[in-house]
Amino acid sequence: MASLAFSATGTNVFPSYMTVSDNPRRARVGCTFAMAELKKKGKTRELTITNVATELRPLVSPPAKEVAGEGKLVAWTSIQQERWEGELVVEGEIPQWLNGTYLRNGPGLWHLGDYNFRHLFDGYATLVRLHFENGRLVMGHRQIESEAYKAAKKSNKLCYREFSEVPKHDNFLSYIGDLANLFSGASLTDNANTGVVKLGDGRVVCLTETIKGSIVVNPDTLDTLGKFDYSDSLGGLIHSAHPIVTDTEFFTLLPDLVNPGYLVVKMEPGTNERKVIGRVSCRGGPAPGWVHSFPMTEHYIIVPEMPLRYCAQNLLKAEPTPLYKFEWHPDSKGYIHVMCKASGNIVASVEVPLFVTFHFINAYEEKDEEGRVTAIIADCCEHNSNTTILDKLRLENLRSYSGDDDVLPDARYNFIPISMH
Ligand SMILES: [Fe+2]
Repeated sequence: MASLAFSATGTNVFPSYMTVSDNPRRARVGCTFAMAELKKKGKTRELTITNVATELRPLVSPPAKEVAGEGKLVAWTSIQQERWEGELVVEGEIPQWLNGTYLRNGPGLWHLGDYNFRHLFDGYATLVRLHFENGRLVMGHRQIESEAYKAAKKSNKLCYREFSEVPKHDNFLSYIGDLANLFSGASLTDNANTGVVKLGDGRVVCLTETIKGSIVVNPDTLDTLGKFDYSDSLGGLIHSAHPIVTDTEFFTLLPDLVNPGYLVVKMEPGTNERKVIGRVSCRGGPAPGWVHSFPMTEHYIIVPEMPLRYCAQNLLKAEPTPLYKFEWHPDSKGYIHVMCKASGNIVASVEVPLFVTFHFINAYEEKDEEGRVTAIIADCCEHNSNTTILDKLRLENLRSYSGDDDVLPDARYNFIPISMH
């Protein structure tokens, strides 16, 4: 089968939103498809429908607002089934040349029993698969079986520290035990709900910001195959949720909360060993800035140092703080560092206007007439230097969103001159 290599990264901000509408025969998967029917336009289709649906669960927190002509706002509603697969009936026509599999990952289950999670980023990961072949489309989704998800399902309560949710403790001793486990990382979640990447060796890994939340999945069956164990001794608890992955490269950033900075690391296909390319020391603040994502050019890695910085004290708290695990330090300013991929040398480190960003858009090199790199352009989605975006992503706000408030980020153009010696 000819196929296109589809690989996609889901985000927390716009997660997978495979949800079921009031019409049981219709599902929306980002665009309009209808769920499989054995008969279409009067003729029986020769299809084998694989339906592995689990027992239906009741929906919780239904969307509060109807959108005229668009059905309900279902994007922030928990999935009803742990897993499902079947062929979708397409409204319109899929080009015959479009063959391949598209994977998308994001939070999809925001409740445990009667308890509703509060923040978008807390949802248990739902992996969605769209397989295009000869004009047909088969869809499946499945919960990623992280330890956090399995434990929650088994005990019907939260067992690990999610983005904003913390397990309730029966007594003081269990609270102390949880704190001890926090420092070792044992109590942190491995709920890999942020993205999915295909490594150069073909392995497909779902990710979140905890390093332990790197989980290998089967892209065909969506089975959870197991934890992705990094074989090096770099340690650490967190990394960028969105590594940069190509057929030959895997780059990511490891924030250093003890000695504020970032390790820039690389992993070769076929290995589980990350190797350090270089280190960036923070220029401001008590801790490194949050690095949900970062950009890269052909020769350089761009390390953003955002004034929204990790906060160990907030990490210890049992209830969410306004900025969750972070603190806003405008006095510490914002910076962008540029590291040479080949040497690990920092070739530029510039102060930039205060910024709040989750995602970079693009980065590229500008060259002079002789082909020398003179500048890096790194564009990002910037939330007006306003940390309230974290509050706006609470489910209560998303579900009652009226559309009156412009919460979308602006694209910010970052120009970083480089002087080569
Ligand atoms: Fe993201």
